[in-house]
Amino acid sequence: MKTFRDFYNNQVDFSTEDHPFSKHPKNVWVVSRYRGNWLLTLHPSRGLEFPGGKVEPGEEPAEAAKREVFEETGGVVKELHYVGQYRVKGKQETVIKNVYFADVDNLISRSNYHETKGPKLLKNLPDNIRTNHKYSFIMKDDVLPLSLEEVKKRFVAA
Ligand code: GTP
Repeated sequence: MKTFRDFYNNQVDFSTEDHPFSKHPKNVWVVSRYRGNWLLTLHPSRGLEFPGGKVEPGEEPAEAAKREVFEETGGVVKELHYVGQYRVKGKQETVIKNVYFADVDNLISRSNYHETKGPKLLKNLPDNIRTNHKYSFIMKDDVLPLSLEEVKKRFVAA
């Protein structure tokens, strides 16, 4: 397990073990690929981030992951893999998220991207994400590099 601070100085614990913090996490975050590109969504206030969100009542986290990718990017997930889990100890509440890797094989144009401004494809993620105001705070801590390390090791040819 790795422990570090996020953009807002909250403590974050990250692990690639099997659901170390909760068997039923209420949130998901999905590192997504579409035809050799990273697939992000543009959140209107936070900026660019990998898609994700809350697990709905009666839904499995993996289902939520696929739904969020589709709602926020139009991406149809072909394969979904569990990558790890992280826990953010916020001032008010603790948030636990499952991290997945999604291989998206179809990008459908939608009239509405569920409170986001839709998909953004990037051949490479920039090196300066932590200081780049175009990127969301959720991309600005060690969750991103730790998740990418695992994803590249297991799913993405370098
Ligand atoms: P909504 O109900 O969608 O408005 O969300 P919320 O404002 O209640 O926030 P949420 O429950 O998603 O998260 C609560 C707090 O946890 C946020 O204000 C953030 O500080 C923190 N948080 C949520 N998701 C992440 C994340 O992916 N990374 C980090 N570092 N912090 C997060």
